[in-house]
Amino acid sequence: MTQDTTGFIHRFEPGPDTARPLLLLHGTGGDENDLLPLGRMVAPEAALLAPRGGVSENGMPRFFRRLAEGVFDEADLRRRTGDLAAFVAASRARYGLGAPLALGFSNGANIAASLLLLRPETLMGAVLIRPMVPFAEPPAADLAGRPVLILSGALDPIVPVENARRLAQQLSASGARVEHKILPAGHGLSQADVSQALAWLRSLPRPEAA
Ligand code: MLT
Repeated sequence: MTQDTTGFIHRFEPGPDTARPLLLLHGTGGDENDLLPLGRMVAPEAALLAPRGGVSENGMPRFFRRLAEGVFDEADLRRRTGDLAAFVAASRARYGLGAPLALGFSNGANIAASLLLLRPETLMGAVLIRPMVPFAEPPAADLAGRPVLILSGALDPIVPVENARRLAQQLSASGARVEHKILPAGHGLSQADVSQALAWLRSLPRPEAA
């Protein structure tokens, strides 16, 4: 566990692929350890950067405040998206990393979507597992061909599939190359998420030498 000047407790797991590290963003109640095994499974060579969300909801870490389930404090989300972008920039310099691909689950997927929309320079692309639309009015962003995989659950009681479709449309309209898969799953992670993320990450072209 490391805490740096940007204030995020985090774990960094080195890997031979520093050109395309994974930024692992956990769900509500998770922490910096949660997604390390998933990250290693879907990107065996990648350096892994895993911060802990700085908000506590009754002791459960999150990346931003919410007013109710699925109702976000958008001002807080904007501010914390900036903080996370600063953390990524500082970590890239500290660990010698290229622009990361986010791998976010639930609350972590939602702040990854916010990073894409507000700070597109931060991410090379993203795998969003069970995300929803982060802002009532989508900010204008230039995502210029960035690859995004969205994995939704057909039986998800928290995120209606229609909401995830809207996010896919917003990101596509901003220029991202979006693939949206609806899995026979609920809100939780399933084996299908692992195999879909692995296959999609393998299919991405290699980044130019850093
Ligand atoms: C959120 O608050 O980001 C979403 O409701 C997902 C969750 O964390 O339960």
